[in-house]
Amino acid sequence: MRLVMIGSGYVGLVTGACLADFGHTVTCVDKDAARIDRLRRGEMPIYEPGLEGIAAQNVRDGRLSFTTDLTGPVKEADAVFIAVGTPSRRGDGHADLSYVYHATREIARALQGNTVVVTKSTVPVGTGDEVERIIRDERQSRDFSVASNPEFLREGSAIQDFKHPDRIVIGVEDEHARAVMEEIYRPLFLNKSPILFTARRSAELIKYASNAFLAMKVTFINEIADLCEKVDANVQDVALGLGADNRIGSKFLHAGPGFGGSCFPKDTMALVKTAQDYDSPLRLIETTIAVNDSRKRAMARRIIQAAGGNVRGKKIAIFGLTFKPNTDDMREAPSISVIQALQDAGARVSAYDPKGMEQARALWTDVAFHASPYEAAENASAICILTEWEQFRALDLQRLEKLVAQPVLVDLRNIYSEEDVTRFGFVYSGIGSRSGAPMHIADLAAARERLVEAV
Ligand SMILES: NC(=O)c1ccc[n+]([C@@H]2O[C@H](COP(=O)([O-])OP(=O)(O)OC[C@H]3O[C@@H](n4cnc5c(N)ncnc54)[C@H](O)[C@@H]3O)[C@@H](O)[C@H]2O)c1
Repeated sequence: MRLVMIGSGYVGLVTGACLADFGHTVTCVDKDAARIDRLRRGEMPIYEPGLEGIAAQNVRDGRLSFTTDLTGPVKEADAVFIAVGTPSRRGDGHADLSYVYHATREIARALQGNTVVVTKSTVPVGTGDEVERIIRDERQSRDFSVASNPEFLREGSAIQDFKHPDRIVIGVEDEHARAVMEEIYRPLFLNKSPILFTARRSAELIKYASNAFLAMKVTFINEIADLCEKVDANVQDVALGLGADNRIGSKFLHAGPGFGGSCFPKDTMALVKTAQDYDSPLRLIETTIAVNDSRKRAMARRIIQAAGGNVRGKKIAIFGLTFKPNTDDMREAPSISVIQALQDAGARVSAYDPKGMEQARALWTDVAFHASPYEAAENASAICILTEWEQFRALDLQRLEKLVAQPVLVDLRNIYSEEDVTRFGFVYSGIGSRSGAPMHIADLAAARERLVEAV
């Protein structure tokens, strides 16, 4: 099949490269000329494990190419995917569909007919109808189809997720679209990935309902974690027991600093807005958003308390800035609110992230970025692990203890146990256990004494 991907970001690039890998001929389009130049030179504009290799292989094999001009490729395409951004609209929180509609008009002008236009971007229910109307008005004909094919990949494991999805959701309104979409995804179907065909509006809603549910699950365990701290229970044990129930499932039950990223915040908000417009409010999701928002600044207060209650003029080291590991994506990362709140309290922030430094530098001029966690930790009054990058799981705590001004470790991802850390003289504050209620630095001496006694 001849396919065109409009938008070569996290989703467009991964989808384009993987569909080329299935044997289709794919043209990835982006209006950002610098991005296309980099791609043509073989450089990936984003960090996504495994992407560079797949892209390079398929470029070499002649199945994947990059351009800023969609006209030629769209004319010959069996299907054109729209994979442009749908950020929150400033002011009201609805999904900003201007990129989708702009791309739609461009596609409409180039279409030759019998092509399936597929929204891969996350779009509110009913957007497919509007895409169809725009194209029909432009072309004065109905010789095209519009399908919805929301994407469920996760940054950091996007290739694996695309090639081994839990399900593929396709919303269609006609047989031609169904046949073309079936052909596109045949390799996955042969691989036994379930394909769910629905009406277009249902497919659009499945995506938002999925993200909202996951965001709610994360927020639920975060609130349970807070309760664990008060009642001297351990959230990791609670999550284990809870998640072992097949009806609940163990994923997305990791307590932490609150959800962020390029999707959950904007998608939960957009769904709430859609529901309000239809006079069918989603109270659970409204609450999820509110609870999550307040959690991030609460995390900063936790760090401040662990560092002694007053961080004015003190240095706080942040390990991990991206919203999750294995991506360089900083969109809505919890680090943004946490660092802001620390700076509001007068702290000096030093930071290290394995892949997110380039994007982070564009966000802050008043954060000191370092080449390693050890450099970032020098003279810090507290270290905070904010993103659970693999390399933070085996930090040289002995070395760190000698570098810091105060041996305080706030582990907002629970990647260490209290025992792991106190052995090296650190005061530990995790999430959702007794250690989560942060110890005041005055208690440090007592903790050390207990440690000496234990030894
Ligand atoms: N990032 C994820 O993990 C993820 C997962 C599932 C779904 N989604 C959804 O997929 C969509 C894309 O997300 P993303 O993270 O890839 O966004 P992104 O910002 O990384 O990429 C979007 C790209 O589209 C380009 N673009 C915008 N308008 C264009 C036009 N008219 N013609 C050509 N190119 C154009 C931009 O230059 C940009 O490179 C969003 O709706 C998002 O909600 C994202």
